[in-house]
Amino acid sequence: MATQVLSLLLSLISSFSLLLHHHYLPPRAHKAQLDLKACKFNAIYQLGDSISDTGNIMYEDPGCPSSKLPYGETFFNKPTGRYSNGLLMIDYIALSAGLPFLNPYLSKDSLFTQGVNFAVAGSTALSPNVLAEKNIVSPFTNSSLSVQLHWMSTYFNSICLSARDCAEKLNRSLFMVGEIGGNDYNFALQQKTIKEAMAIVPQVVQAIKDAIQTVIGYGALKVVVPGNFPIGCFPIYLASFHTNDSSAYDEYHCVKELNEFSIYHNDHLKIAIEELKQEHPNVTIIYGDYYNAFQWVYRHASNLGFDASSVQNPCYGFGGEYNLSMEKHCGDSEVPVCSNPDQRISWDGIHLTQNAYHYMSYWLIRDFLNQLGCSGV
Ligand SMILES: *[C@@H]1O[C@H](CO)[C@@H](O)[C@H](O)[C@H]1NC(C)=O
Ligand SMILES: *[C@@H]1O[C@H](CO)[C@@H](O)[C@H](O)[C@H]1NC(C)=O
Ligand SMILES: *[C@@H]1O[C@H](CO)[C@@H](O)[C@H](O)[C@H]1NC(C)=O
Ligand SMILES: *[C@@H]1O[C@H](CO)[C@@H](O)[C@H](O)[C@H]1NC(C)=O
Ligand SMILES: *[C@@H]1O[C@H](CO)[C@@H](O)[C@H](O)[C@H]1NC(C)=O
Repeated sequence: MATQVLSLLLSLISSFSLLLHHHYLPPRAHKAQLDLKACKFNAIYQLGDSISDTGNIMYEDPGCPSSKLPYGETFFNKPTGRYSNGLLMIDYIALSAGLPFLNPYLSKDSLFTQGVNFAVAGSTALSPNVLAEKNIVSPFTNSSLSVQLHWMSTYFNSICLSARDCAEKLNRSLFMVGEIGGNDYNFALQQKTIKEAMAIVPQVVQAIKDAIQTVIGYGALKVVVPGNFPIGCFPIYLASFHTNDSSAYDEYHCVKELNEFSIYHNDHLKIAIEELKQEHPNVTIIYGDYYNAFQWVYRHASNLGFDASSVQNPCYGFGGEYNLSMEKHCGDSEVPVCSNPDQRISWDGIHLTQNAYHYMSYWLIRDFLNQLGCSGV
């Protein structure tokens, strides 16, 4: 029901055709007007972590934080497993493509005819045993990228008669490979310095590259590969890397070295994408620029209706410097939640609010349309 109302709203909004530039600030109501319908996608397949998991984690771990309110309070009025107060970017991308929200793969009775979401919150690009060899603990799930690809293969084997049949069936699908890898770094930074954690970047990017090769092998023709966020602006990192040395911060009070870490990963990822494009000239592989989409929202926070004085405070957090404490985990009953999540960017210190994801999606969809080469755009 809510989905239908939102689709209607979005289609009304999309009838305003404005030519926008990245530096143009949209009136608030127009943030989702751009649409991916020109690409005529008939399905979306998603690999990833909590940035895009629409519920798999709740099947794996019914006690996870996102299985409880206030997760889901804004859009669904109930938790769905999504790590936000409401919708995620993949939800906005699906709506924009004229497709329903992706059902989580582990919800076995769901309909998958218009796509499947294989993403699992807490998952990593490298498998937990590879991380363990580097003394990195992956505590939340074992469903890393290779497991998700295995699920994908099982699913495609169930709907295709042959590899050729699969390639034909998938020739109007959008494949989202990531964001993934962010948790490999989150977990590495629990025990290691930034420099030590950076050492795993080539291996993480190789795992993502292998995953892209795999989906191309199934017949993917349009692939979006998102990079990492500027994690130095995330409250959880601002809290744990807090220092009195002002030179550690950029002009937006984000931890420079952590943002440089994300840029380092993203640069490696872009090189991998370029190599794959050379190898597969018939496949459209594009980079999903979460870094700059986030920066755009962050830097225009007050114009976009966010409370400029609390861009570094999560809505759902606890006391302390950034209203967040490492000891208190969201999901604990004493953790307070703000009354105005639409005015916050960070939902829980790591994940963003629906409103922040909505604006990021607006920026990204415009960027995707420029790069995807859908006719009629
Ligand atoms: C991951 O697998 C290991 C080894 O089988 C197991 O001990 C651990 O409990 C699993 N972790 C999760 C979160 O399921
Ligand atoms: C997809 O496959 C069908 C069936 O072979 C074909 O008619 C169609 O042109 C293909 N579309 C694309 C985008 O390759
Ligand atoms: C930062 O400065 C405050 C006040 O001068 C001091 O109490 C605190 O210990 C300092 N913290 C660090 C990490 O140096
Ligand atoms: C790529 O596209 C061209 C032109 O449509 C076609 O001739 C060629 O067979 C395609 N190559 C692959 C590897 O699909
Ligand atoms: C921190 O959280 C408390 C409790 O919700 C709230 O009253 C306070 O305004 C918050 N502080 C900041 C700086 O957001």
